[in-house]
Amino acid sequence: MHIVKKNISGHDYYYLNKSVREGNKVKSVNIAYLGKDRAEAEKKADEIRKKMDRDEVVKEVKESEKKKEIKAVNLNIEEMMNFCKRKGFVYPSAEIYGGFGGFWDFAHLGSELKKNLKDSWWKYHVHERRDVVGIDGAIITNPKVWEASGHVGSFVDIAVVCKKCKNKTKIDKHEVGKVKCDKCGGEYENKGEFNPMFTTQVGPIKEDSVLSYLRPETAQLIFADYKLVQENARLQLPFGIAQMGKSFRNEISPREFLFRSREFEQMEIEYFIEEGIKCPYMEECKGVDILIYDENMQKKEKKPELMDLYDAWKKKIIKTDWHVYWIAKEFEWFLNLGAKAENFRIRQHGSDEKSHYAIDTWDIEYKFPMGWRELQGFANRGNFDLTQHQKYSKKSMEIVNEDNKKVLANVVCEPSLGVERAFLVFMFDAYSQNEKGEIVLRLNPKLAPIKAAVFPIVKQEEYIEISDNIVDDLKKEFNVIYDKSGSIGRRYARNDEVGTPFCITIDDKSPKNKDVTIRDRDTTKQIRVKIKDLREILRDLINGEIKFEKAGKLI
Ligand code: GAP
Repeated sequence: MHIVKKNISGHDYYYLNKSVREGNKVKSVNIAYLGKDRAEAEKKADEIRKKMDRDEVVKEVKESEKKKEIKAVNLNIEEMMNFCKRKGFVYPSAEIYGGFGGFWDFAHLGSELKKNLKDSWWKYHVHERRDVVGIDGAIITNPKVWEASGHVGSFVDIAVVCKKCKNKTKIDKHEVGKVKCDKCGGEYENKGEFNPMFTTQVGPIKEDSVLSYLRPETAQLIFADYKLVQENARLQLPFGIAQMGKSFRNEISPREFLFRSREFEQMEIEYFIEEGIKCPYMEECKGVDILIYDENMQKKEKKPELMDLYDAWKKKIIKTDWHVYWIAKEFEWFLNLGAKAENFRIRQHGSDEKSHYAIDTWDIEYKFPMGWRELQGFANRGNFDLTQHQKYSKKSMEIVNEDNKKVLANVVCEPSLGVERAFLVFMFDAYSQNEKGEIVLRLNPKLAPIKAAVFPIVKQEEYIEISDNIVDDLKKEFNVIYDKSGSIGRRYARNDEVGTPFCITIDDKSPKNKDVTIRDRDTTKQIRVKIKDLREILRDLINGEIKFEKAGKLI
């Protein structure tokens, strides 16, 4: 746009013109009359230019915000791996050196999602409960722990290689001679037993060093520290001890992206009860419907059945009340964070499939793209571990109950979840596309790596200043980003793709009205809210404490 001076009857008149292309020619089209004074004309032209900039952007926003229909998309595991790498969620570890089989690095978005997932787990299982406390044990501990737990002697798999396609994998002892290659159906060659615990030497002088292990599960530190925790935290049965952190297994063939890796994280609870004590929370299991696949159904090759967990307990399909209760709680945790119920089922382990310590085991399985696979285990470990540690440490693991009697507690249920598998569940269930084919990652706001993106509608100083102040204020509490490049539509799309639930725009009305718009990722609806209320409203929106439409003035 440019100013044009016209002299009419000896007087100067100023106009604002715009160059418009018509075929091969460029025409100068009049837009506004600016008066007779040059200085005045320049001021007016400036204001008009700004307004037109804004109007164009507002038009663009409205167009991009025409209601979009969002549909779930099913990715296979490789496509998810590529998406995670492309967008900064997960990389092969040290990719510049070609990666390292079974090891992964969580990138700038993945590390946030993983942290939010773990925080949410801790809040739900520890902070919100009166009967569970947490610990954070060592990764390398006294190797006696692993002798007592049976991991040195019994934590063994059989390494096999397919004679036809050379696929390397592991099978359980009970599967030797019974199973064929899961890739091509060929015969397996038995390569013998192997223990998946990583070993290391502790101590710098070789002769004095001690052969130790990187923990293959977090659970054992809970048992080893059980007495101290119970005394220090003054816990009475029933109570739980939770732990999350790294575990390591030297898997023969780490595969399927994060599903089976050599370094992973677990979130586990050992819930201790006095033998025979009934679970007082069974009412909470009523109305929790899940697909159930018990040992009997599997033997008879029947299909899993959708059942109320409470009924499954009453019908003795799941025998112990505590088992039912913890399955219901864990399923609820996933659903509360946006996972899709139809992708979950529970499956009982067959008698020849259970771990060396387990009396009865159920898994929550998730429908991964590769098929139904274990997501979380629920083993009834009885008093196996405390008995073993009592025997190996020669220290009593009994505690005094409320009736002043010494008791050795039982773990009737150990919910044990892999962080990376949960990460995959939330990513798969969130991955969607809108009608334009753009990716919308519909992560629950609590899990989303970035809670909000703040945009000035145009790159002008007053808008940038307001945006800066908002970002500084919100950053005190949330992980938010400032995004000023590209069209507004592009900025929305970029944030939808990585799951940012809210986009805050400083628009033409903001400087005067001291308000902004918030756009909801999943509905693309927008509300106006006062800047002074923004932090509180965003907090309520993230925590799901207020409906989006009620959080401000709907536009
Ligand atoms: N303390 C019991 C225990 O460790 P598990 O079934 O061997 O039981 C529990 O492991 C959970 O840990 C699994 O359900 C899975 O979510 C996760 N997990 C186990 N091995 C894994 C691996 N190699 N990679 C990723 N996650 C794994």
